[in-house]
Amino acid sequence: MDLSTGYMGLELRNPLVASASPLSYTVDGVRRLADAGVGAVVLFSLFEEQLREQAARTARLVDDPAESFPEALGYFPPSAEQDAGPRRYLSVLERAAAAVDVPVIASLNGVTPEGWTDYARAMQDAGAGAIELNIYYLPGDPHTSGRDVEQRHVDVLHRVKAAVTVPVAVKLGPHFSSTGEMALSLDEAGADALVLFNRFLQPDIDPEALAIVPNLTLSSPAEARLARTWIALLRGRLAASLAATTGVEGPADVAAYLLAGADVVMTASALLRHGPEHAAVLLDGLSAWMARKGFRTVDELRGMLSVPSGAEGAAYERAGYVSALRGANAGGHGPW
Ligand SMILES: Cc1cc2nc3c(=O)[nH]c(=O)nc-3n(C[C@H](O)[C@H](O)[C@H](O)COP(=O)(O)O)c2cc1C
Repeated sequence: MDLSTGYMGLELRNPLVASASPLSYTVDGVRRLADAGVGAVVLFSLFEEQLREQAARTARLVDDPAESFPEALGYFPPSAEQDAGPRRYLSVLERAAAAVDVPVIASLNGVTPEGWTDYARAMQDAGAGAIELNIYYLPGDPHTSGRDVEQRHVDVLHRVKAAVTVPVAVKLGPHFSSTGEMALSLDEAGADALVLFNRFLQPDIDPEALAIVPNLTLSSPAEARLARTWIALLRGRLAASLAATTGVEGPADVAAYLLAGADVVMTASALLRHGPEHAAVLLDGLSAWMARKGFRTVDELRGMLSVPSGAEGAAYERAGYVSALRGANAGGHGPW
């Protein structure tokens, strides 16, 4: 079975990528992921100065033993001070890139224009095969316009592209009025890949404690549908590669993303839940499924179920929506 895959100019042995998570917090962690067979590893994000404290706070919050996914807790740094320090980050990156024979992609969450460019350059110098921009931005100020938010993404990308020569991916959230137009703008601005989608940590309210509580839960496969829909819609319409992230639990989830048109499929929650060795289960399952369906290469099946080029995306979406409602109705679940 030939699983080899191109991703933003990188040659990968297969399309399964470990996405940014505490699993890559140490060189040993990266080695375990590579040994389990992944095609590439995205390191946890380096947060720029101003966000460092926030990142540390998040790490402390998830260190709370009452958290809902104790299996992941062991992966968090033992002390907040060690978290996200640029020097430590670059050291892990440099040693990890030398230790494994798959590309190590650095992930950056900046704040200032210089923060984005200086760290991106430093990551390239430390051996990053590519850089993923983790644009985790929720406009809390209600006066911020949608155009401003979009422009911010494009500006960051322009700056980083001008500062480095390695490929640059943009990991973005799903909350745009027109996600497709945002994707096209980033493509035009030179993004080498789009990573769909960032998963926002949405704090919740505990009515008993009368308190706002952090909410960092692992994903479930049902959450994959939004990213899968957008990948199916964008396939063949961009020069940038497409990476899927969110909701991969088993081999069928990987296969579904590839059929929608993803160049690579990323996973974090499943590896946190079952351990890095779960990557081998996903890859073996993918190969078995390909054999069963008569596919010999990933290229043969990639995008088979994407929205055909020439089809009008909105009409396609609407047709799917209407037939889903009709199905629900026929099953006795709808009012029509
Ligand atoms: C504990 C945890 C830590 C994460 N840390 C990062 C990070 O540092 N940078 C980043 O871009 N994404 C981070 N993510 C998001 C994942 O990379 C991934 O995009 C998201 O969890 C959706 O994929 P999944 O459903 O396979 O988990 C983190 C996710 C989890 C669960």
